[in-house]
Amino acid sequence: MDSYIIESNKKKSRMPARLDFAQSGTGLILGLFMWVHMLLVGSIILGKGSFNFVAKTMELAFLSDTGHGYPLMVFLAVFVIFTLFILHACLGVRKFPISWKQHRILRDQMQMMNHTDTNLWYVQIITGFIMFFAGSVHLYIMLTHPGSIDPYVSADRMVSSNMWPLYLILLICVELHGTIGLYRLCMKWGWFAGKDARKSRQTLQKMKNRATIFFLTIGVLALLIFVVIGIKHRDNVGERYSKQGIAVEKVLADDGFLAEVNEPANAQSTDLKHQ
Ligand code: HEM
Repeated sequence: MDSYIIESNKKKSRMPARLDFAQSGTGLILGLFMWVHMLLVGSIILGKGSFNFVAKTMELAFLSDTGHGYPLMVFLAVFVIFTLFILHACLGVRKFPISWKQHRILRDQMQMMNHTDTNLWYVQIITGFIMFFAGSVHLYIMLTHPGSIDPYVSADRMVSSNMWPLYLILLICVELHGTIGLYRLCMKWGWFAGKDARKSRQTLQKMKNRATIFFLTIGVLALLIFVVIGIKHRDNVGERYSKQGIAVEKVLADDGFLAEVNEPANAQSTDLKHQ
């Protein structure tokens, strides 16, 4: 009874609404970012040159005299996205079923109602949980190696550093989580709502499914291409790509420091290593 009186005397807090708003905002930015990210990474489908162009443009290479660009730009972009990612995850954890009992009640209600949007919400919980770990690994690597976006280095990361299974899991989760999230945002805030609510929902669901298939297809194709490049490049791990078809070989110089040497693509890399 005491606790009831204390509860009813409390002023209604606006905090839950504010947190919900912050979760929607960070989710919207991350969801749209992932669409752009997938198109940029997908440039590998058009060839190594296209991916290299995208990577160099992201590093603002066109502004530097040497053409090497500024990996700091990538670092800053990853820092902002990583911060939003952690913030979004922390806000999402509030809604997780935190015990087996809560999870069981949720599953029972889902079976009883068989409501599409509730089932989608459950998919979001599961994919969000997986992404918290898999996404953090990817973002940490990008944060600590901002100058390592390159067709060969990225492909080596996938194959020789065994990252491809993590990327595959992350890809499936991010495409489901992102498109469901954007769909749920539209439903929650009434964006694109027509006069007929039922019809609007059906149209949005159709668009969501198409977006998932589109971005999953680009992602899987890109992953396959990276894996093929990485397998072919297994004996030259560490070698970078440059757009004139010149491979930049990392070699150990006499003083023991790593030096970069420009090498024609068809030259013997072993000769260079012994110079
Ligand atoms: C600014 C932040 C980010 C940058 C610069 C970035 C960069 C990259 C790059 C260069 C690749 C190609 C593989 C590699 O080089 O290792 C890649 C792949 C990938 N990234 Fe990111 N990423 C960012 C954020 C994210 C986030 C937030 C997620 C999801 C949580 C994500 C999910 C993925 C997935 C699933 C792949 C594999 C794509 C495929 O297989 O086609 N990335 N990312």
